[in-house]
Amino acid sequence: MSAQRQRLLRLRVREFRNLHELDFEPGERFNVLSGDNGQGKSNLLEAIDYVGTLRSFRGAQTAELVGEHAAGAELLASVGGDVLPHEHRIRLSREGRREVAVDGKRPRSRAQYALSLPVVIFHPGDLELTTGSPEPRRAFLDRLLERLDETYATTLAAYTRALASRNRLLKAEQPNRKAITSYDELLASAGSVLGQARAALVTELGPRVADAFAEITGDGPPMSLRYEPRVAPSMQAMREALEQAIDKDLARGFTADGPHADELVFRLQETKARRYASQGQHRALVLALKVAELQELERRSGRTPMFLLDDVSSELDRQRNRSFFALLSRQGGQVFLTTTQPELILVEEARVDFRVRAGVVTRA
Ligand SMILES: Nc1ncnc2c1ncn2[C@@H]1O[C@H](COP(=O)(O)OP(=O)(O)O)[C@@H](O)[C@H]1O
Ligand SMILES: [Mg+2]
Repeated sequence: MSAQRQRLLRLRVREFRNLHELDFEPGERFNVLSGDNGQGKSNLLEAIDYVGTLRSFRGAQTAELVGEHAAGAELLASVGGDVLPHEHRIRLSREGRREVAVDGKRPRSRAQYALSLPVVIFHPGDLELTTGSPEPRRAFLDRLLERLDETYATTLAAYTRALASRNRLLKAEQPNRKAITSYDELLASAGSVLGQARAALVTELGPRVADAFAEITGDGPPMSLRYEPRVAPSMQAMREALEQAIDKDLARGFTADGPHADELVFRLQETKARRYASQGQHRALVLALKVAELQELERRSGRTPMFLLDDVSSELDRQRNRSFFALLSRQGGQVFLTTTQPELILVEEARVDFRVRAGVVTRA
């Protein structure tokens, strides 16, 4: 693997949530951030993740990220390592405006930006990726593809708009068939692009997830990951499906077929994991998915991503915890972990401990 090692050397934060004024110099490898609840540990991970992805992993709007009594927030990240040193600056205003600059210049596109500082985050909410409804699984694929592929986001936006319009017309008192089916061509073309991109990504991720799952669980059952589209992702098949389902769609008041209804299925042996897997297996599955995401981002960006883990210590038993950290150790990237119990983080080498208290971070 010839990925360049990239490191966050320094992060300056001003008025981001409860982090009023923070100058944080993390270590090269494992950074353990501990403290009681409500002190700002997740806020710090959110700040680091935001620098990489330009979005809040908690789904927060720009204005919510700005400190309570402040007019705006600023994140200034100095990045180095094997890559040429560069500086990311992000300014957020209470009115919801955002300015992004890398070495003083506006990035060309979101995808180009996301691949320049790849980052992967795992947080407790991610457990619904294997236990919950299909929606977060599709969203996982969409968010990753938006970062890997410039055109994916625009295609997804076009598809989502057309689908909403078609559904609105399907719900009308006196539905106009001609107006409804006028969206079919766009839905079929954009929908097949989305379905093909997701299926190709899952083909890429599948073996990586299975390997990481085997390594974390040790003796766990073999797992597999499959993209299961409701309609095969070809224009022809999608056009036909929309045509054939029009009466049903009219009765239901929404469009049933398309990538918005596709599934990503985790299986243990041959059984669907959603209802069958144990708590510990669910956790290992989601962590394995994140490891695969990290490897894919590394392959596509040529840089080792940062890995952020929010409250991970309680997620696994001792043996799996050890195996997981051994895997991360081999991966070689910079890792940031938050916990209320630093003694449960079974990492000894290349570890730097910090305490987080009321938005202030100090070396422990
Ligand atoms: N926009 C904001 N301005 C100021 N404080 C905020 C803002 N958003 C959240 N907070 C505060 O951040 C704290 C939670 O921090 P968090 O990082 O989630 O804690 P934890 O250490 O448990 O991960 C809470 O005290 C909350 O009031
Ligand atoms: Mg937290």
